[in-house]
Amino acid sequence: MDTVTQRSAKRLVLRMSYGKDNFAADRRAANKVIAAAPEVILMARENRGFIQRAVRFLAREAGIRQFLDIGSGLPTQGNVHEIAQAEAPDARVVYVDNDPKVLARSRALKTTEAKNTSVITADLREPDVILNHPDTRAQIDFDQPMAILLVAVLHFIDDETDPYGIVAHLRDAMAPGSYLVINHATADPRPDNAGGAREVYKNTKYPATHRTHHQVERFFDGVDLIDPGVVCISEWRPDTETDITPEEVWIIGGVGRKPTVD
Ligand SMILES: C[S@@+](CC[C@H](N)C(=O)[O-])C[C@H]1O[C@@H](n2cnc3c(N)ncnc32)[C@H](O)[C@@H]1O
Repeated sequence: MDTVTQRSAKRLVLRMSYGKDNFAADRRAANKVIAAAPEVILMARENRGFIQRAVRFLAREAGIRQFLDIGSGLPTQGNVHEIAQAEAPDARVVYVDNDPKVLARSRALKTTEAKNTSVITADLREPDVILNHPDTRAQIDFDQPMAILLVAVLHFIDDETDPYGIVAHLRDAMAPGSYLVINHATADPRPDNAGGAREVYKNTKYPATHRTHHQVERFFDGVDLIDPGVVCISEWRPDTETDITPEEVWIIGGVGRKPTVD
């Protein structure tokens, strides 16, 4: 990749992953990840598309009005509250991230002042802290259907931390008729490039764990996967026909609905 292309690629990854406002450490990490796996540029864009299609589906077709977005990242374009409230102005959103920069930047960009929107600093590894946080309780009525989003975050939870137990705990806190939105990096289609990206993350505070299709599907235990199931995120209810392949976008995910009790 020539220098100019490399620069614009980095800007794109930063904008998609970290928003317009990013930090020196983000820029260094982005450089290394792009060098190891140039397709991350496309993956970052497709990831935003997946979130937006999933939230639009939930607000428009499933009637969901409450969203808990865990590992939300820095505010960027097409944030969950913007998508949901464009469909349903009364939609309520709580953003959760363990990086305090997310709250600081959200305050600076006035996301925290958006209607029915809260941003909290908490860790996915302590789900009860998230569920019982006063701001979560103020926005979310756990007796009513809701959606929990775990987008591009579960691969930062290693097996020793019991990611399946954490997801099950969150699922159990939701009312019947609620939804889980999960996507996850997988090494299956591109073990070489995924391994390179994993090497970069190994030296950060978030080492990545790539999981197989079967292992990602297991996160949906106890909910009913809606069509088309767990697939390459570009193939999850695309707005237009896509020719993007799982080798180009090695993130898989889906949406599941917690069954209602008869
Ligand atoms: C790759 S970004 C994904 C952001 C957003 N969900 C998206 O898909 O555009 C991962 C985010 O998860 C956050 N994160 C990582 N581990 C976390 C944890 N244990 N608890 C909460 N947030 C976490 C990071 O700080 C980062 O903002």
